[in-house]
Amino acid sequence: MSHTTIATLMQMKSDGEKITMLTSYDASFTRVLEEAGVDSILVGDSLGMVIQGQESTLPVSVDEMVYHTRCVARGRRDALLIADMPFMSYSSADQALSNAGRLMKDGGAHMVKLEGGASQLETVRQLTLNGIPVCAHLGLQPQSVHKLGGYRVQGRDDESAREIKEDAMALEAAGAQMLVLECVPKGLAAEISRILAIPVIGIGAGVDCDGQVLVVYDMLGITSGRRPRFVKNFMPEAGSVPAAVSAYVQAVKTKSFPAEEHSFQ
Ligand code: KIV
Repeated sequence: MSHTTIATLMQMKSDGEKITMLTSYDASFTRVLEEAGVDSILVGDSLGMVIQGQESTLPVSVDEMVYHTRCVARGRRDALLIADMPFMSYSSADQALSNAGRLMKDGGAHMVKLEGGASQLETVRQLTLNGIPVCAHLGLQPQSVHKLGGYRVQGRDDESAREIKEDAMALEAAGAQMLVLECVPKGLAAEISRILAIPVIGIGAGVDCDGQVLVVYDMLGITSGRRPRFVKNFMPEAGSVPAAVSAYVQAVKTKSFPAEEHSFQ
């Protein structure tokens, strides 16, 4: 039984305590995250890029997500365990039910995350009705990178900001119990976090979200290629992996991360 539940994270939101989340893909990293007191762990489909060396998250399969979720579940002690639904694994509500069921039954996830707004409402409803908690994901949706034409900040003009806000409210009404907001202006993320009752976890969305998530390899400075603006490398000051993860937890809890330099206007 999970010690940190969705109810715990809801309580943290209403108490104003920031929620910490990091990605993990194996049991050993998960133990380090647990030792540092990370509240929730995401088995992100970012594993396609940081573990498999792919150019995007698109090639990741359900089998691979189940495998990594199971590895993480073995190292987990208290944190809420969330697993990503990979690209094309939730194109219909029926397909989503069967694949989310695998992530929970075979992988040991407590919640699944999927990308998308209005088009996903029926799927979110069906998953929730069947006892599968859903974390929605709006703003920059990496599975739509080809449609978007690159990894870009979303919601900068009035129309797209309104669309993200309306999608967020509709997803909550459909039953989503958490929302990840990626690469949106700080003010928009603050407004959505205020409006929604469910926890809003930001990545490149400013300090006023209810919590923060980063890809663990990014915050350890070992991801190859250009580092996105919203990432902070905690390794140089901390000097070891456990100390860097603890510094991240501390920085999120005390609202010193993300700073202005990690946020978008
Ligand atoms: O796949 C992932 O790791 C994610 C986070 C970056 C939010 O979706």
